[in-house]
Amino acid sequence: MIEVFRKASKANNFSEVSLNLPDNGSNMSNNLKILLLNGPNLNLLGKREPETYGYQTLSDIVEHLTNVANQHDVELCHEQSNAEHELINHIHAAMGNTDFIIINPAAYTHTSVAIRDALLGVSTPFIEVHLSNVHAREQFRHHSYLSDIAKGVICGLGADGYEFALLSAVKQLKQTTNK
Ligand code: DQA
Repeated sequence: MIEVFRKASKANNFSEVSLNLPDNGSNMSNNLKILLLNGPNLNLLGKREPETYGYQTLSDIVEHLTNVANQHDVELCHEQSNAEHELINHIHAAMGNTDFIIINPAAYTHTSVAIRDALLGVSTPFIEVHLSNVHAREQFRHHSYLSDIAKGVICGLGADGYEFALLSAVKQLKQTTNK
């Protein structure tokens, strides 16, 4: 991952960062589906504490990620909710039809045993993403109920963290599913 970040910092367009993915024209992943799930207050991105979370809106981020997913022949679905039970319902709905979840649980990261149990319940691999470096912030943000069951955790890299998570998810899926 460190190597990826180094290359990424030199590139202008992160979608060009190579993770040694198979050629896009290979049609090897046409059935792959990834769910991007964003938790409470992330609908305010762009306006909400921009010095911490950046100036891009959630729509900007999702639009870019959708383009990146398309380039890799992967279907990306996005859901955002401010309600814990809705996030849980989206996780349940992903069972059996979604290959990977990328989740920024926002404040629920630090409180939600229920979201942890939902992710364990569906057994879908996931990456936890945070825009800010939660470890450099208040003590209560240092603990996550999800990190120990995640495939990986990315924090502190702003919106680029989502893209790194997406590229990593695609790579992992192509390695394990041969799609
Ligand atoms: C966040 C970090 C959380 O601590 C916070 O509650 C958020 C956003 C992030 O992306 O940095 O809402 O998940």
